[in-house]
Amino acid sequence: MTDEQTQPLLEVRNLKTHFETDEGTVRAVDGIDYEVRRGEVLGIVGESGSGKSVSQISVLRLIPTPPGKIVDGEILFNGEDLLEKSDEEIRQMRGNQISMIWQDPMSSLNPFLRISRQLTETLEVHTDLDSDETRERAIEMLEMVGIPAARERIDQYPHQFSGGMRQRVMIAMALLCRPELLIADEPTTALDVTIQAQILELIKDLRDDFDTSVVIITHDLGVVAGMADRIVVMYGGRVMEEAPAKRLFHQPAHPYTVGLLKSVPRIDRGREKRLVPIEGSPPDPTDDNPGCPFAERCRWAVDKCHEEFPEPVEFEDGQRSYCWRAEEVYASELGAKASPEHQADIEERVESGERIDTPRT
Ligand SMILES: Nc1ncnc2c1ncn2[C@@H]1O[C@H](COP(=O)(O)OP(=O)(O)OP(=O)(O)O)[C@@H](O)[C@H]1O
Ligand code: SF4
Ligand SMILES: [Mg+2]
Repeated sequence: MTDEQTQPLLEVRNLKTHFETDEGTVRAVDGIDYEVRRGEVLGIVGESGSGKSVSQISVLRLIPTPPGKIVDGEILFNGEDLLEKSDEEIRQMRGNQISMIWQDPMSSLNPFLRISRQLTETLEVHTDLDSDETRERAIEMLEMVGIPAARERIDQYPHQFSGGMRQRVMIAMALLCRPELLIADEPTTALDVTIQAQILELIKDLRDDFDTSVVIITHDLGVVAGMADRIVVMYGGRVMEEAPAKRLFHQPAHPYTVGLLKSVPRIDRGREKRLVPIEGSPPDPTDDNPGCPFAERCRWAVDKCHEEFPEPVEFEDGQRSYCWRAEEVYASELGAKASPEHQADIEERVESGERIDTPRT
């Protein structure tokens, strides 16, 4: 394989994005590393305020400055640092090489403009197509994302579409220029469960058709379970764990991931049961905490955890845990290399809300 194919599409290194506020410096993203490989779906999960959106808005260089600022790190896209690009160069890349789908479609669709205008405008900016060609391309894309009677509906206004259909229009808009990277920030939270499943399926199909790499951000580990190839778990502006999706679910190596797994309903068995929430509250983002941000809530915490952020511990298949006790967590009951029966038993116990015994130290 050539370097081009083996090199990750996106490499984020030691990224720090802070906001200056009256309460102090909010360390929204405070030194994260991750990569997005070509053609993969990467899920970013974590509770509210963990820095998921800010980490991605930083990639697009859309952080409002002031109060925000990327204070450190590198964002390599195809090997080139986006932080070194001029504003004009970045503008050219947005919507073209990197696109974003936001949680609320109305925040990106202009209510006063016909869909046709909004779609063709993007193409006019980024391609040399003439007006007939841009219209045809836009109709094609609406059809591809499943808008019925696209040829007629393209001249309607956003409010004439249902929530799910508006989300599809947004996806069409994001994919018009065949971006190499699509970032979807909670793309389905506002939608009901059936439509959510359809939209996720659609994003997956489009990834297959266009070989687009996808980053999907969500609070909901269930959403990424059937969707992501790999998952990055964030907490307190840091990455806690990164792993292929299957490994993360079956062999987590971080106490926070274990906590998350216990707090989401299992979707693979079709049961809707809330499990044990993680006790305690998230860290204050204005604290300049040198240690592990999860330490206050972690049953495994030792003194060192309060003093120094952990070095990553590597496991098989690129699984990486930022925890001083990663090896022990991995080898503990939930992370044990279990037989299928044992695994089923553990899953049953997790599902019934039982606490898996983790030692207090
Ligand atoms: N413009 C801003 N000014 C000040 N603080 C901000 C700003 N934008 C984000 N933050 C802070 O940065 C932190 C991370 O926010 P972010 O939006 O990335 O969280 P998130 O993980 O996406 O959460 P959610 O799941 O609720 O969307 C939070 O503490 C948030 O309050
Ligand atoms: S054991 Fe320490 S480093 Fe690991 S998650 Fe708990 S507090 Fe963080
Ligand atoms: Mg967010």
